[in-house]
Amino acid sequence: MKLLPKLTELLGTENILTDSDSLKRYGCDWTKTHQPDPIAIAFPKTTEHVQALVKFANTQELALVPSGGRTGLSGGAVAANKEVVVAFDRMNKIIDFNATDRSATCQAGVITQQLQQLAKDNHLYYPVNFASSGSSQIGGNIATNAGGIKVVRYGLTRNWVLGLKVVTGNGEILDLNKGLVKNATGYDLRHLFIGSEGTLGFITEATMRLTKPPKNLTVMVLGISNIDALMKVFEAFQNTLDLTAFECFSDRTLHYVHTDKGIPLPFDTRTPYYALLEFENDSEQREKEAFKTFDNCIQKEWVLDGAMSQSESQAQSLWRLREDISETLSAYTPYKNDLSVKISVIPEYLEAVVQLITENYTEFEVLWYGHIGDGNIHLNILKPENMEADEFFKQCKSLNPRIFQLTQTMNGSVSAEHGVGLLKRDDISYSRSKEEIAIMKELKSIFDPNGIMNPGKLINA
Ligand code: MLT
Ligand code: ZN
Repeated sequence: MKLLPKLTELLGTENILTDSDSLKRYGCDWTKTHQPDPIAIAFPKTTEHVQALVKFANTQELALVPSGGRTGLSGGAVAANKEVVVAFDRMNKIIDFNATDRSATCQAGVITQQLQQLAKDNHLYYPVNFASSGSSQIGGNIATNAGGIKVVRYGLTRNWVLGLKVVTGNGEILDLNKGLVKNATGYDLRHLFIGSEGTLGFITEATMRLTKPPKNLTVMVLGISNIDALMKVFEAFQNTLDLTAFECFSDRTLHYVHTDKGIPLPFDTRTPYYALLEFENDSEQREKEAFKTFDNCIQKEWVLDGAMSQSESQAQSLWRLREDISETLSAYTPYKNDLSVKISVIPEYLEAVVQLITENYTEFEVLWYGHIGDGNIHLNILKPENMEADEFFKQCKSLNPRIFQLTQTMNGSVSAEHGVGLLKRDDISYSRSKEEIAIMKELKSIFDPNGIMNPGKLINA
């Protein structure tokens, strides 16, 4: 059967693209390691469109790759093997909002910021947030169980999903949990699809929980003397304030954001590390507590200097010191690792990782930053200007087994929030047992018996 005529018959000519620019654009995410090579891009407008595509793909054993905002960092949305990309850009409507339920039902292609704005317009709040909120899509966030900068208070995307509509790899439509808060009727399949990276089925709609907005979010940036002190500062502020974020970055990382993006330094003192914390500054008493904790940390010499926002716009500019890191570093073709351990293990872990890489990557510049309040650190190794990307990635990867073994020994994860995709697929055994991986493969074969849903990603089925 001729493929393209059938695709256009299913979705309409206007919803299928095959020009080379679109193939390149929609066939990849933010990773640069694989060349996009899909055969067509399909833009379904309804769940039934997605179902028709999946049913047809099964008859042809045609591989489908889901595409959301394509802001992923693990190659989960890369189509490098003549797949058809299913792009959710035209399923971008918020179908329902209910103030009593505090929920909004979104098509998969709704942009994160669109949902945040809807919540705001209705005096509510959607708390999952990250630098790519302006382009990432709700369906992709759920498929990767996106985390970001507010996990310390609000948890991951998983915590906010009340219901899911999915098309499985068999072409069945499942309406999971139907927006209920309580539903004790057996296996919660909704949670199986969250974080499954499109390997079991495609999410087409989601009912998301909203909450009351935090009051007067205030940001502090603190200059920190050493890694042990960083965790002590975290503990001190966590005990006295209702933290909504606790992020960190090293001085070298700050250097790049400051020099390349022109973002002003928070204060004159340069310190080895910085913490950025955010809290609800909802009373005078709270503010006093914040200052008191700050003074204590200064006295103990954990903190060497600090700045606190006095307005929303000041809070936003301080946030840029952290939020602009990823985009700034992308100019240096970084090799990225996204690692986590339990929060209490961070000092020991970080010291061991930093030692391992500085001893072994002597020619490379290594930067780190992350969501230290939830145990997640991002290690970025910068490509030297005069080195070919392939050679650079090869050399970086050669140290992975040692970094991952160390992570395994400390019961950590080799992918904390960026997902597995293509890039970490062969490394998941550092974080998941062989029994778990075998069960994952069996689950894949139930939901996607012909292996057409995002094949080659997450597990080698
Ligand atoms: C971040 O925390 O900035 C994002 O996860 C992206 C990145 O790690 O570069
Ligand atoms: Zn992150």
